[in-house]
Amino acid sequence: MSLAGVRMLQLPRIADPRGNLTFVEGQKHVPFEIARVYTIYNVPGGERRGGHAYRTLQEVVISLSGSFDVVLSDGRDTQRVSLARAYYGLYIPRMVWRHMENFSTNGIALVLASQHYDEADYFRDYEIFRGEAAS
Ligand code: TYD
Repeated sequence: MSLAGVRMLQLPRIADPRGNLTFVEGQKHVPFEIARVYTIYNVPGGERRGGHAYRTLQEVVISLSGSFDVVLSDGRDTQRVSLARAYYGLYIPRMVWRHMENFSTNGIALVLASQHYDEADYFRDYEIFRGEAAS
């Protein structure tokens, strides 16, 4: 089951015996200009991050190190995506609830966001989100 608009982006990968290189350009490798970048790291075993949706924000989530799962919901259907490679980006459009879990030791999430941080853009209550998504 794939939620509408959610998709895996394959990022450029320059393989090199000295070590691989991956890069991302806004509007080219991700479908928006990148306004903000944040990382989630040092996640203790069993902890969960996220647990919200955005009214307008779009994001791409990349596993820079280790692995973790992103669990998505459009208010009706759910989808689980495991991320473990630095050259895959999970594109999450607006109005998709998400949380991240199952972080491995040294799991690091890099998140590219289409807008600056704005608390007013968050849905933090799943039932309110679900009602809005259904309308
Ligand atoms: P939050 O988005 O709630 O984290 P999670 O994705 O795990 O739910 O953010 C946690 C805190 O960090 C919250 O107080 C807001 C702050 N924050 C910023 O100030 N700027 C940011 O870009 C982000 C992502 C969070």
